[in-house]
Amino acid sequence: MDRKLPSIILRETVATPDIERIGALVAGTGFFSDEEVGIARELVEERLAKGIACGYHFLLAETGRALLGYTCYGPTDDAPWLFDLYWIAVLDSCRGKGIGSALLTATERRVTRMGGTRIHIETSSRPQYLPTRCFYEKHGYRRGAVHKNFYAPGEDRYVYIKDLAPAQPQKAA
Ligand SMILES: CC(C)(COP(=O)(O)OP(=O)(O)OC[C@H]1O[C@@H](n2cnc3c(N)ncnc32)[C@H](O)[C@@H]1OP(=O)(O)O)[C@@H](O)C(=O)NCCC(=O)NCCS
Repeated sequence: MDRKLPSIILRETVATPDIERIGALVAGTGFFSDEEVGIARELVEERLAKGIACGYHFLLAETGRALLGYTCYGPTDDAPWLFDLYWIAVLDSCRGKGIGSALLTATERRVTRMGGTRIHIETSSRPQYLPTRCFYEKHGYRRGAVHKNFYAPGEDRYVYIKDLAPAQPQKAA
């Protein structure tokens, strides 16, 4: 497999065609139920309807016109410094090339700039998610709470946590 990171452009805005594109990307991973795919689409719709005030931020990785991956994240209602990474997904055929890492690192930078100092990610204990869990751990996320049988009997919810260094104040010129 060619592991070279393709040259990607990161985009923070979303537009109406992104509802379909993100829906197709998420559905194509084979990781998510129809209901979860619907939620991924709804978050884009909500952002388009309500703007940034809805609290859903996006980062899309593209090459040319193709969407290769994306994240959706935002501050939680619990605390403004605590952010959730709601979604991260990379196109099946493009995994293992560093796109997920580039997206996660760029998302963390944006969270820090917005005053966030901690990110939570929820994921499943299913064996299918083992590479995903390795990915989070490689990026410094530690497993926090485990909610037994949360998704289904025998399928736990893991909450991964990463503390981020606070943004450095800008030096006066
Ligand atoms: C998780 C995901 C976003 C990672 O994106 P990616 O572009 O494949 O990740 P990268 O190429 O940046 O991988 C970085 C590291 O993750 C780990 N990793 C990635 N794929 C792995 C695999 N199949 N097995 C083990 N580790 C893996 C490795 O540590 C890798 O580091 P290395 O390249 O030095 O070996 C992507 O695989 C994906 O979309 N998965 C399906 C959807 C999903 O699980 N989303 C999260 C829901 S909670």
